[in-house]
Amino acid sequence: MTHKSAKDFFAPLAVGAPTPLREIPARPSRAIHFFDPSNPKMVDKVPQMVGTVDVLLGNLEDAVKADNKVAAREGLVKIGQETAGLGGQSGPTQLWTRINSLDSPWALDDLTTLIPAIGDKLDVVMVPKVQGAEDIHYVDRLLAQLEAKAGLERPILIHAILETARGVANVEEICGASPRMQGLSLGPADLAADRKMKTTRVGGGHPGYLVRQDPVDGQIDGPRSVFQQDLWHYTIAKMVDACATHGIYPYYGPFGDITDVVAAEDQFRNAFLLGCVGTWSLHPKQIAIANRVFSPSVEDVRHARRVAAAMGDGTGAVMLDGKMEDDASLKQCLVMVELAEELAAIDPELKKAYDAITLEEAR
Ligand code: GLV
Ligand code: MG
Repeated sequence: MTHKSAKDFFAPLAVGAPTPLREIPARPSRAIHFFDPSNPKMVDKVPQMVGTVDVLLGNLEDAVKADNKVAAREGLVKIGQETAGLGGQSGPTQLWTRINSLDSPWALDDLTTLIPAIGDKLDVVMVPKVQGAEDIHYVDRLLAQLEAKAGLERPILIHAILETARGVANVEEICGASPRMQGLSLGPADLAADRKMKTTRVGGGHPGYLVRQDPVDGQIDGPRSVFQQDLWHYTIAKMVDACATHGIYPYYGPFGDITDVVAAEDQFRNAFLLGCVGTWSLHPKQIAIANRVFSPSVEDVRHARRVAAAMGDGTGAVMLDGKMEDDASLKQCLVMVELAEELAAIDPELKKAYDAITLEEAR
């Protein structure tokens, strides 16, 4: 196959469609809060959530009953048209949607309804059950045609859910399939089903997936510590590498046990430490957890800035508190410092906390 020339990669896929972005902006997206636009109770809460969460996502796919698919789509149009400060370049809270899967009876109407009606407000379209680059190419061209027809000036970005075995096998080509690719989320529930994992949960660990300490003094039945292992480590690490390779953003996905705020925080923190920038939130409780976990701690920012100051021009090595710091540890610290700056720009509480470090430093 002769591949498209590299220089054509950033040409619009339809005459009159906006020029693709060369870089995906690092917009804060610690929590992607899911709501069902066909559920009046959830819809009522949307306006007051603007400004309190980085992303509001109108969910049209799983968890919306088949009978409510059209109501959800229409409900999202109304929300996009009527909610001040939601979506588009300027608002404090981005507007995303999760469309139905591409083989469903609803996906085509989802896109052909949403883009003309609220294409100027929709920042990102999340595509579920992505299998390979061909799924992204399909949405890419269709979005370009719809953008051109609607006269949109800004390309709508694509986010893929990693929730099929084939999708995981193809994760790199998915990330590189279009300049619209914004990021990937782990979809642990569908992925578990597709892989035929023997779990029955939405995200998180499993008490059966463990390692056990060796027998002490040959006592097989004696007390032996067990440690639960992380079912998602492999997939998240693979996703992070693919995203970083292509300059796009990785996310944890749903954590279904809303009451277990402790385990949710652990899963989110593991993802943060491995390189993810955010997670889904299925309940307002999880927004607070995500905002805390996906923001660098004051201690980390303090340390990162100290290393940056001590490293001067960024080359060579210094000793700080008995530890060697060099170009590579400085680069890690700069990831923290830059993220802190991006988040401080939109989160006044964080800005106050990080500014307090600057005052300490000045003393
Ligand atoms: C999310 O869509 C999942 O299947 O986990
Ligand atoms: Mg799913």
